Amino acid sequence: MERVTLRRLDDMHCHFRTGPLLTEVLPFTAQYAGRGIAMPNTRPRAILTGKDVAWYHDGIMRVLDGLLNRPTFEPLMTIEIRDNTTPEMIVEAQNAGAMAGKVYPLGVTTNSNEGLHNFSGRRVSRTFQAMQDVGIPLLIHGELDQERTLVTQREEVFLPTLLRLACKFPNLKIVLEHVSTKVAVETIKQCGENIAATITAHHLCLTLNDVIGDGIKPHHACMPIPKGFADRDALIEAATSGNPKFFLGSDTAPHPKERKECARGACGVYTAPVLPQLLAEIFEKAGHLDRLENFTSRFGAMFYGLPLNEGSITLTKKEWMVPNQIKSVVPFRAGTKLQWQLA
Ligand code: NCD
Ligand code: ZN
Repeated sequence: MERVTLRRLDDMHCHFRTGPLLTEVLPFTAQYAGRGIAMPNTRPRAILTGKDVAWYHDGIMRVLDGLLNRPTFEPLMTIEIRDNTTPEMIVEAQNAGAMAGKVYPLGVTTNSNEGLHNFSGRRVSRTFQAMQDVGIPLLIHGELDQERTLVTQREEVFLPTLLRLACKFPNLKIVLEHVSTKVAVETIKQCGENIAATITAHHLCLTLNDVIGDGIKPHHACMPIPKGFADRDALIEAATSGNPKFFLGSDTAPHPKERKECARGACGVYTAPVLPQLLAEIFEKAGHLDRLENFTSRFGAMFYGLPLNEGSITLTKKEWMVPNQIKSVVPFRAGTKLQWQLA
């Protein structure tokens, strides 16, 4: 097959950032996606309230409106749920346009220094209850930073917490973001329809060997850290199997080059400039190019109860070289060849 046409994508997990970086990175996602979920872990201002949601939405719209051939792209807004988030804040955020709440457990990733301490606290339980009541999904960075727990084990040790939440809030929609292990894939499969998972493109490509096995590769460093071969196989199987519980959330997470290439490098992989092209390559290699559109453009919308996007994009099979750097950021697969181009 030399051409593939896809309904415009839903990227259900994006870091658009703020300020100059927002202007740099947003046009890539907007080029091929009809919608993208804007993650709330921005700095210096995190997205915690309805006011923050309105402010961030305005900032994103300003960048979109400034683009030539204004793309049909809608940012889907979120707030970050912390220990002090109240049920009132949930209602207020929803009224301001937030469609989900995101939890970062304390200390597990970029900008999680004020993340949630305790998933079973009284206060946060009332907040989760409010989310269930008003119908706002809970998006979770499913890792725990515990004493004597290796970074490679952080996702697995989180899974009992996920199951407890699913049990306590049976009508709450929960998304386990960027799953990275076989055991998490198996857990999601066993849960009810209201529990789903996003999968990134880079976790379909990388293992821990690609991060630290042959020189330290800062541009492959991300949370959750890429795992083993069986884990990657399970992710490829989940993404390409046609199971609607697994859909695209790229976790495109740009950091300026110098923030990656330093003594304490930031975690996050910048896939936005190569995302549909890379996914076509992965799905083709798995022998399931015909299932790509379900993963990128249908299952996410179905889970969130959104209409499918209008419009389409076309990919053609033609080799190209990913640039070494795009403005201030090094993209995933920089300086290597990809097989598919965006027409
Ligand atoms: C993300 C970021 O840079 O904001 N980093 C990452 O490694 N994935 C945060 C996140 O989603 O964990
Ligand atoms: Zn993320």
